[in-house]
Amino acid sequence: FEDFKIVATASQVPERVVDNHELSTMMDTSDEWIVKRTGIKRRHIAVTETTSSLCTSVAQQLLTQSELQPDDIDLIVVATMSPDYLTPSTSATVQGNIGATKAMAFDIDAACSGFVYGLKLIRQMLMADHKKNAILIGGETLSKLLDWSDRSTAVLFGDGAGGVLVTNETTADGSYLADSMTTLGSLGGYLTAGKTGQPSPFSSDHQPFKPFFKMNGRRVYQFAVKNVPDSVNHALSVAKLAPTDVDHYVLHQANVRIVERIADELELPMTKFPVNIGEFGNTAAASEPILLDQLVKHNIIKRGDTIALSGFGGGLTVGTMLLTY
Ligand code: ACO
Repeated sequence: FEDFKIVATASQVPERVVDNHELSTMMDTSDEWIVKRTGIKRRHIAVTETTSSLCTSVAQQLLTQSELQPDDIDLIVVATMSPDYLTPSTSATVQGNIGATKAMAFDIDAACSGFVYGLKLIRQMLMADHKKNAILIGGETLSKLLDWSDRSTAVLFGDGAGGVLVTNETTADGSYLADSMTTLGSLGGYLTAGKTGQPSPFSSDHQPFKPFFKMNGRRVYQFAVKNVPDSVNHALSVAKLAPTDVDHYVLHQANVRIVERIADELELPMTKFPVNIGEFGNTAAASEPILLDQLVKHNIIKRGDTIALSGFGGGLTVGTMLLTY
């Protein structure tokens, strides 16, 4: 049975930590409001780092841990909504930085669902193309897309990168169990960031150019607490599993209240839902691989455990993948 296996996990966050107290000196907010509404206490903010430098560090760690050479890598995919440039892609920069001369490299953007969407994509590519080793990284520097005078978004996000090295293995029991991926593009206006395109000199519209995050938090919240349980339940039914069969639900870290509501909807205890948002804020495509890496390194996720990876966010997008680690 040919399928894929996660052989290594890694993560990297910027050095600079900004806590809620520091933010409250910059805007009209408080540690109490942020912790109560979101669970976030602090976040890492890129001052000297870039999305590609964080992702390069993750790729180098993955190579070291798996004892592979750069030339052993066939495919590099970076999921990001905050690349250094639209071109070259962040993954091409990473490919050049680590010297993975045989790897095809490109980016995908599915916002906070980017990591699970990317896992689905690289699994299919490894299997269809008989490639051997792939690196998937979720990396973001969302801080550069924030309007630091807008307290309703500036307090929510953080920077970082996390990734996995995946190999195409012929095993008795493939690690993949099932997935469910959905896009609701008609709701895309509820969360926008990174508008591109300076006003044309030929246009009479001279509105100031604003690439910043804009979010209808209530709507995104309602979307998440309905669509994530639906997505998880759909994947579970395909795999013929019950919610209790999953050992760890590694959800996108947007808001601790969303995670609690999802646990409630699935009638499961919070002990199955690890949370690290307090330390990192919402890091979009990076949040699941950073959490996954912490859980693996702390021996909370062990070989043979059943895990559900579930992302949701801009697009709007939602996706779940069930696998045996
Ligand atoms: N500090 C203090 N007060 C604030 C702040 C702040 N940082 N931000 C907003 N407020 C105020 C508001 O002005 C409002 O005041 P008012 O009642 O006087 O009008 C009050 O707090 C309540 O604001 P709400 O927006 O109604 O607060 P809510 O409880 O909905 O929480 C939040 C807001 C945290 C954004 C929540 O809606 C949420 O988490 N939504 C989901 C966001 C999400 O999951 N995004 C994921 C996708 S991200 C991606 O894909 C990149």
